[in-house]
Amino acid sequence: MYKKFIKYILLCMCMCLNSLSSIASGATFLHNDELQLKAIGESLDPSGSYILSWEVDLKKQRITFEAEVATLGYIGLGISPNGNMAGADLFIGGVYKNGTKYGYDMHARDTTMPIQDNQSDWTLIDASENESKTYLKFTRLLNTCDDNDYPISNDTVRIIWSIGETDDITYHKGNRGTKSLNLLMPNNDNFNPDDYLKWDLETEIEMPSEDTTYWCSFKKAPELNSTHHIIAFEPILTNELAMNYTHHFIIYKCTPPKGQNEEDFFGPHLNHPGENCYLPDDQQSLPIKYCMSQYVYVWSKGGKRMIFPEGVGYPFPEKVGESNYYLLEIHYDNPEKLPGLTFKTGGRVLYTDKPIETDAELLTVSHDVSIAMTIPPNQTEFIVAGHCSPQCTEAGLSDGGINIFNSLLHSHLSGRKLKVRHFRDDVELPWLDFDNQYDFNFQQNKPLRDAVRVLPGDQLTVECTYSTTWNNHKAVIGGLSTREEMCMAFLWYYPKQKLDYCGSYYPNDVLHEMGVINYTVSKPSVGGLPIYTILEPKDLAGEYVESLSTKFKWNETFVREIERRRRYSTHHSGCLYKLQGRGDVISVQYPYDFMKYGPEDVCKREVVKPAGNNSSSFVVVHTSLIFMIIMLIFVTKSDLQAIQI
Ligand SMILES: *[C@@H]1O[C@H](CO)[C@@H](O)[C@H](O)[C@H]1NC(C)=O
Ligand SMILES: *[C@@H]1O[C@H](CO)[C@@H](O)[C@H](O)[C@H]1NC(C)=O
Ligand SMILES: *[C@@H]1O[C@H](CO)[C@@H](O)[C@H](O)[C@H]1NC(C)=O
Ligand SMILES: *[C@@H]1O[C@H](CO)[C@@H](O)[C@H](O)[C@H]1NC(C)=O
Ligand SMILES: *[C@@H]1O[C@H](CO)[C@@H](O)[C@H](O)[C@H]1NC(C)=O
Ligand SMILES: *[C@@H]1O[C@H](CO)[C@@H](O)[C@H](O)[C@H]1NC(C)=O
Ligand SMILES: *[C@@H]1O[C@H](CO)[C@@H](O)[C@H](O)[C@H]1NC(C)=O
Ligand SMILES: *[C@@H]1O[C@H](CO)[C@@H](O)[C@H](O)[C@H]1NC(C)=O
Ligand SMILES: *[C@@H]1O[C@H](CO)[C@@H](O)[C@H](O)[C@H]1NC(C)=O
Repeated sequence: MYKKFIKYILLCMCMCLNSLSSIASGATFLHNDELQLKAIGESLDPSGSYILSWEVDLKKQRITFEAEVATLGYIGLGISPNGNMAGADLFIGGVYKNGTKYGYDMHARDTTMPIQDNQSDWTLIDASENESKTYLKFTRLLNTCDDNDYPISNDTVRIIWSIGETDDITYHKGNRGTKSLNLLMPNNDNFNPDDYLKWDLETEIEMPSEDTTYWCSFKKAPELNSTHHIIAFEPILTNELAMNYTHHFIIYKCTPPKGQNEEDFFGPHLNHPGENCYLPDDQQSLPIKYCMSQYVYVWSKGGKRMIFPEGVGYPFPEKVGESNYYLLEIHYDNPEKLPGLTFKTGGRVLYTDKPIETDAELLTVSHDVSIAMTIPPNQTEFIVAGHCSPQCTEAGLSDGGINIFNSLLHSHLSGRKLKVRHFRDDVELPWLDFDNQYDFNFQQNKPLRDAVRVLPGDQLTVECTYSTTWNNHKAVIGGLSTREEMCMAFLWYYPKQKLDYCGSYYPNDVLHEMGVINYTVSKPSVGGLPIYTILEPKDLAGEYVESLSTKFKWNETFVREIERRRRYSTHHSGCLYKLQGRGDVISVQYPYDFMKYGPEDVCKREVVKPAGNNSSSFVVVHTSLIFMIIMLIFVTKSDLQAIQI
């Protein structure tokens, strides 16, 4: 039926709103052995008045914090579901004037005075103060099994902090804030960047006096006579302007069209200062689209270095004598539209000529970014799923399978929870990664502590839970802007195999399902997805999202019905093997009647061995904003029409 489909994979960055005003350097991680994780010197506030360090003992499932804060009053540290005081789990401590140390396990029901917990699980180990600073050391179990405490796991946590002017904790007008962090960290041990060769990709232009600019320029990798390996990526934000205004950057790999020589095709643009990445086709002077299908690295504000596991690297160049061209996309975030600021910004590739046994590859699993993702207005929990079919992993992976070692989950402003599920036959294995506290402003490359083996024939399903309540009673559809949505996971794996993209889409005419009888599809003026305009019925006439938001009569039954249908019915899945061609369109859905995975509820069994409500993801802190988009447009029958971007 769907004999033919065309895909354009378009990786691009999305606009982002503002970000954490945090200090990008952040904590450094040390680790003593497999079971001890340590973070030193994370600055919670922009001015560096509140420095938090912590250590996790995985064997004892215990976390110990040390706070050094510029105050002689109380110090508050909390974990909150949403960054607010309401519902937060808190610890408040300090040293009274008479020298008595104090520390209370508390929680807040609302924004008023916190209440002391009946069960004290956060405990003070030490406290001291001198003329300018207070130091606190305190500890708790990762999961205390107390309803008033927040279980700490692999999720992103919203840390809230407060700095009291005095020791009177009833007076809480103090200085306060929030910061997203992952408290459980990987083993970035013994890494010395000086041991490696470096290639810097930087752009130096006068930042446009626009709120948001995506700037793209071509870069050429050093010519190497043998294949080397990339073993780490990191940002270079050596000046304050770069640190303040670089919101994110992406490194893409360029591949010229068939039959073209890359030197001839990209070479002439090497000295071009670059241009806007997402101009309409007829205004784009650089061959940018020949790079955007192969994403190599994403960094976002606050993000830290990403390091490959020992013995694993990304081949550089892939083929000696070719594949030397890359595209650097910088997202400048300039909300005050300041003119006249020129600075250098970008990233660094660390690579080695030493033998690396194992090549890595990046796999993207997603739901197609299209109107098939339509999230109704006023939703708090609307779930969308994208599948990587057993047929794709069967065809794209060899017998031994692959080991996934790093994950980056991606959605936009409506994303609340993301999860990558893993099925083998009719059994669901532990989730590959998940985040129940997803923060768009804190997207990270997260090393999985235990690499996850995926075998040929396994199915991976990425699930995204969206809330549209923030969006002024408007519907949200799949798209490139951060106000539109995506649902994807970027998974680094080894050894390198063919499979690099695997996703699915709901193939039906979604407009028809909404009762639309006649509509038009047009090309947007600045690139991006097609625009749908409803003609009939007359009472829905107008632009699709606008009509859905203001004219369509929603009811709960219908919302749940379209959610169910989109999530559980048969999707079409495509696998793309490294630009070598397309697989066939395959039908895919959740496995039939599978045995569901559920993390064990440690609290029920009264054993103090919490792994909380979590399982298999693992995490590093790369404070970040990462926006990455893959857009797959399938030409199906007449319903969705492909556009060329
Ligand atoms: C020190 O001061 C605190 C708060 O004013 C008080 O609760 C505590 O009893 C005092 N301790 C001593 C040893 O006086
Ligand atoms: C603490 O215990 C008291 C008495 O049992 C109870 O009334 C109160 O609700 C409890 N408070 C919390 C926060 O659980
Ligand atoms: C107070 O203690 C901190 C370390 O906790 C130290 O860095 C600072 O220099 C000390 N200040 C004074 C005035 O002693
Ligand atoms: C690579 O080989 C070319 C020609 O054989 C030589 O001129 C060049 O110096 C070599 N480059 C490196 C980095 O070894
Ligand atoms: C960078 O941001 C910080 C914190 O907002 C601000 O204090 C500083 O002046 C900014 N620096 C520049 C060069 O813009
Ligand atoms: C969303 O909720 C608001 C406030 O409750 C209501 O006014 C609006 O009609 C709702 N929108 C839709 C499309 O249901
Ligand atoms: C849809 O609307 C267009 C423009 O009004 C009209 O030409 C076309 O015949 C309509 N198609 C159907 C199936 O009604
Ligand atoms: C709910 O909305 C759908 C779609 O508009 C409609 O077909 C259905 O009759 C409505 N149901 C109720 C109970 O209003
Ligand atoms: C976090 O993920 C790792 C696997 O990467 C797992 O071993 C660990 O149990 C998880 N931790 C928690 C608290 O869930």
